[in-house]
Amino acid sequence: MSTRQQGEGHKWFAAFWDWAVKNENAAIRRGRQETVGGATGRVLEIGCGTGANFPYYRDDVTELIATDPDPYMLERAGKRAAEVRRPVAIHKAPAEELPFDDESFDTVVSTWVMCHVRDPARTLAEVKRVVKPEGEFRFYEHVRYDHAFGAFWQDLITPLWRRLLASGCHLNRDTARSITEAGFVFQELQSLKPVPLLSPMVLTRPNIKGVARPA
Ligand SMILES: C[S@@+](CC[C@H](N)C(=O)[O-])C[C@H]1O[C@@H](n2cnc3c(N)ncnc32)[C@H](O)[C@@H]1O
Repeated sequence: MSTRQQGEGHKWFAAFWDWAVKNENAAIRRGRQETVGGATGRVLEIGCGTGANFPYYRDDVTELIATDPDPYMLERAGKRAAEVRRPVAIHKAPAEELPFDDESFDTVVSTWVMCHVRDPARTLAEVKRVVKPEGEFRFYEHVRYDHAFGAFWQDLITPLWRRLLASGCHLNRDTARSITEAGFVFQELQSLKPVPLLSPMVLTRPNIKGVARPA
């Protein structure tokens, strides 16, 4: 499958992300494991990036479908899928327009995607549409600080960060609130700080990790 078209995607961010994933600390790996390792049945992963989560899926997942709009990410995801030797159906699609039937997945997975999507409300409406009523949305996302000092710096830096550094990533999104507003109920919700305070990634804290179900 040739997924690349001229003028789209973020070649250098895909290369950077691949490197970053290979150098993740133990806390982040554990977060991926707990998020992805709980997926069951027919699974959709949105914004799969370079395929960093593929090794964490359990063998009894019956079908794994992964999407991302960025062809450079998908090229790397294809290689990662071959390495883990499990079938992964890879589709080029933004999470705001998922090319799948209503109520067709047991689990939808998202890790560090809600910061990137163009439209969080539309994305979560799509997740709610495609997940079965008894299904799960499993997420691990960096979000807005819950104190004014941290949120002030995230608001200040986000415009520069999005354009120059991180291919559209927003540091300051209140994703837990968006998930609730989209009509999900939390089954589990944890706030974590997997990146140390003294770190270049201090603004990509805190993270939320959890499981939500359609209300
Ligand atoms: C920080 S990376 C995370 C990748 C992967 N989920 C992981 O955990 O390693 C953010 C991903 O979101 C993707 N993305 C950007 N806009 C998106 C959209 N509208 N819908 C779905 N994914 C999007 C990017 O292409 C990128 O792969």
